[in-house]
Amino acid sequence: MTEYDDYGVPVGAYQEPDSFTGQTYRTARAFLIYSVRPFVEKRVTQGRWKRLFSLANALVAIWWVVVYWGERGAFNGAVGSCNWDAWENWEEGASPHRLVFVADPQLVDPHTYPGRPWPLNPLTMKYTDQYMRRAYSRIQTELYPDTVFFLGDLFDGGREWSTRTTKSPEKQYQQYGDSYWMNEYRRFGSIFLDHWGDGGLQPRPGQPGRKFVSSLPGNHDLGFAKGVQIGVRDRFHAYFGDGNRIDVLGNHTFVSIDSVSLSALGVPSSQELEEVWRPTVDFLSGAKQQKRKLIQRELRVQRGLRPYPGFPHYEIESQDFPKATLPHADDEVTEFPTILLTHVPLYRAPGTPCGPLREHWPPSPPPAGQPSPLEHDERNAISVSGGYQYQNVLNKEISADIASKIGDIRYAFSGDDHDYCELVHRGYASGGGGIREVTVKSISWAMGVRHPGFVMVSLWNPVDAHGKPVKGDMGRTVQTHLCLLPDQLGVFFRYAGLFALTLVLLSGRAALVAGNALPQQPLTSEDPILPMANIPSGAEAEKSALAQQRFGADDYTHSSNSSTSSNANGNLQVRNAQARTRTASPANGYGLPMPMPHQQNTTYSHPLVQHAGYYGDEDSKKDVKTYGSVSTKSKARKKGFALFRQELKSSLGKVMICGLGWYFWLIWHG
Ligand SMILES: *[C@@H]1O[C@H](CO)[C@@H](O)[C@H](O)[C@H]1NC(C)=O
Ligand SMILES: *[C@@H]1O[C@H](CO)[C@@H](O)[C@H](O)[C@H]1NC(C)=O
Ligand SMILES: *[C@@H]1O[C@H](CO)[C@@H](O)[C@H](O)[C@H]1NC(C)=O
Repeated sequence: MTEYDDYGVPVGAYQEPDSFTGQTYRTARAFLIYSVRPFVEKRVTQGRWKRLFSLANALVAIWWVVVYWGERGAFNGAVGSCNWDAWENWEEGASPHRLVFVADPQLVDPHTYPGRPWPLNPLTMKYTDQYMRRAYSRIQTELYPDTVFFLGDLFDGGREWSTRTTKSPEKQYQQYGDSYWMNEYRRFGSIFLDHWGDGGLQPRPGQPGRKFVSSLPGNHDLGFAKGVQIGVRDRFHAYFGDGNRIDVLGNHTFVSIDSVSLSALGVPSSQELEEVWRPTVDFLSGAKQQKRKLIQRELRVQRGLRPYPGFPHYEIESQDFPKATLPHADDEVTEFPTILLTHVPLYRAPGTPCGPLREHWPPSPPPAGQPSPLEHDERNAISVSGGYQYQNVLNKEISADIASKIGDIRYAFSGDDHDYCELVHRGYASGGGGIREVTVKSISWAMGVRHPGFVMVSLWNPVDAHGKPVKGDMGRTVQTHLCLLPDQLGVFFRYAGLFALTLVLLSGRAALVAGNALPQQPLTSEDPILPMANIPSGAEAEKSALAQQRFGADDYTHSSNSSTSSNANGNLQVRNAQARTRTASPANGYGLPMPMPHQQNTTYSHPLVQHAGYYGDEDSKKDVKTYGSVSTKSKARKKGFALFRQELKSSLGKVMICGLGWYFWLIWHG
């Protein structure tokens, strides 16, 4: 005979708690067996299914569907529909390099909306971060690009947060120090770096690897021209890398330019700002040579050689050390098509149209009788202007300088504008046929576009051992696609609309009930939408006792020391042999030690903890019905407006609790 302690646990039957997943699994299983089953059986036997189809329940179902759509379906659908195969148009057997440009995440911070009252700023931060995290995670899982490039403005107020040597010129931001910047960096990491591997880390077949580059600075990261502070730029470089760099990807050369620093050349006192523009100017003057070297190395790697020929084995005199450089195999090569990356777009004549994909102002309709789009369209264009710490396009001279120094540019990608723009520059030195520039939309929904987006680029340029295109056609090696993301404000508006509809319908129903046109339906404790622990009586009690027996009471193992111990089948065990004689459902005591037979009597068949804080007085005891852990007193029937209010409150409460529960679950889990 086993001994039991005060809690009904076999003596010595306690051991360390189970793992969390195991517990969750068993909790769910026990919930199904002990709560859902009796609930369903009760309804089936009593024909009470009709109750489930109440108005409130229908609204709960609608809320669940709409919230799922808004929090999941819209994202999966938007990103999923941009699949590469749906728009890539290469010949048979091509294996293109796939790349995604992300522009202007511009993490919302106190600089974005200065002076907004308290809960608004943290909420906007939370929701914009969540939106970008979701979108970016879908990019990884659905699209799995080989390379992701950021086009600057990673932060909104990055340039303002003080460093050890600098302070913001604006007084209101001087209180934010380096630690604030570090915190923003962590935020950026939690949105983008942490989700880089969501779709995996392995290179796709035929690709050398995966690459993430976020070093291109924007005017919100560093400032613009004379607004660039060296301390701020050094900090950015320390964590994201140098803004000027060259990457060879997919047999194309990507040249990134720190154009916000370079723009210091264009201001009247530029000689005093040499420290700001000098690094980019030096980089530009060496760019052609550097491009060539990198292509030579890349082609060696493609042929299975080492990028460098290796040091010759001879002694170097110590005075020759400074002159010793890595040897370089100067093979004869043809250049890859060059792609320029700059945060601020290149200069264009005012009014140059941006094409039909621009969200804010689509092309103005041409005058009657003229079929082609306008050549000068002020509304559809990026306005050629600037202001404090920004300029919408680079200076004309600086743009021309960049183009001629880098040479052979065929494509350019830029950000800054937050909306899409696509045009061909004919005035600059280029790789033939002009420079096709795409300005990429912001990926954040707080940046003035209802449909944020990103640009996908597919690169296919098979070359021979000397970098010469096999097809002989360098003009058609890049295909781009603008992928649009869901309209977050629209989702909020839909929730608001559904809330209004819910309110109207439930008020109508409550009014009908109050006017006796509809029977009053108990909505709360007596008929919960979700099954709750019930005391079955009579026949039902026997049925559920039988059910428990079937589900493992017999497999109980006394060697286990846990109050919720499990057997090999993973069945929940809260029962012992004596429990079968009890009349109460075990669901009452689920997860808690069971009362012992000597403790049981008709009024108190539950562990005391379930009644914590309740000491019924003499008269109320007569009225109290106990439903598991829920006690209700029978109330006098209400009438008129009081009844209306009660009906509305309980039905609206139910819909909102169920809807919000689902909403927060979805938000919590991604
Ligand atoms: C169960 O508890 C008893 C006494 O607390 C102890 O002697 C015994 O070793 C425990 N058994 C296991 C399997 O932990
Ligand atoms: C680059 O060229 C090599 C050599 O022809 C080829 O194997 C590879 O598929 C090319 N990659 C792309 C993305 O064009
Ligand atoms: C049940 O317990 C209460 C309180 O302990 C006690 O007053 C009552 O007499 C008990 N009833 C029976 C039938 O044992």
